[in-house]
Amino acid sequence: MKTIDLTGKTAVVSGGGGEIGYALCVGLADAGAKVVALDIKTDRVDGSNDRITAVRSDLSDIAGISSAVEDIGEIDILVHAAGVNIAAPVTEFEEQAWDTVFDVNLKSAFFLTKELVPRFRAGCTGKIVFISSISARLGYPGLHAYTASKGGLDALIRNLSTELGAKNICVNGIAPGTTKTGMTKGLWEDEKKCSAHEATIPMGRMADCKDHVGPLLFLCSDMSDYVTGQVVCCDGGLTSVQADFINLNLREGNE
Ligand SMILES: NC(=O)c1ccc[n+]([C@@H]2O[C@H](COP(=O)([O-])OP(=O)(O)OC[C@H]3O[C@@H](n4cnc5c(N)ncnc54)[C@H](O)[C@@H]3O)[C@@H](O)[C@H]2O)c1
Repeated sequence: MKTIDLTGKTAVVSGGGGEIGYALCVGLADAGAKVVALDIKTDRVDGSNDRITAVRSDLSDIAGISSAVEDIGEIDILVHAAGVNIAAPVTEFEEQAWDTVFDVNLKSAFFLTKELVPRFRAGCTGKIVFISSISARLGYPGLHAYTASKGGLDALIRNLSTELGAKNICVNGIAPGTTKTGMTKGLWEDEKKCSAHEATIPMGRMADCKDHVGPLLFLCSDMSDYVTGQVVCCDGGLTSVQADFINLNLREGNE
């Protein structure tokens, strides 16, 4: 059953060539939107779907962002899903790695917004959705730049919402929990690590990319026209529980 109709809307999705980003592009296209996927790698998108156009672009600097969007006309939706993760212990973390993570995850979110705000169609509520992460709230050894960039993204969502409300644009975020993509394959490819991790998730499993489509469609539809400045965790309850309590509960009650 189709419950959200985005026919007539145009969406720009950064990172649309990635695993979560592409699932979001397909979700938007299936709901009727025309989608422009911006990504440094476009193989997954090229020729895959009549409603999705790929624009190969490096979004890590302002010149790349400006040229990526120059042929885009009026839009209704901006989704920022481009992201990179570089991990290293604090004493070994390189400046270049820090800059790369911040440029792609955070700086590009801001400058894409700057470029595209003037293109939002007048007369309807515009929608901006940044793909954040539960890493904005939880720590992981080595993920210093990634967690800090996602924390910055959550703050930016709140801040942009204060200014863009006056332009009738909602700014929200989705914070995926651990999702089965290349970014996390070190975890889910190893059966032992995967089941240890899944045992800490109240829903008992890692996310599939498609799990994030429903929250995105809600945040891009007129059902959420009065929701702004919010980040929805789509994490199977991972950020709601003290992990060892699940295990204690299982041991004491349910086994
Ligand atoms: N996989 C997870 O568990 C998880 C959890 C929380 C949040 N996220 C976030 O979801 C988003 C998508 O992650 P994914 O797991 O699908 O990874 P992915 O690597 O498949 O997707 C990221 C995309 O960003 C693109 N990208 C990287 N640098 C770029 C640049 N300079 N210019 C343009 N595009 C660039 C990549 O080419 C890739 O297609 C990221 O923002 C990530 O931080 C992922």
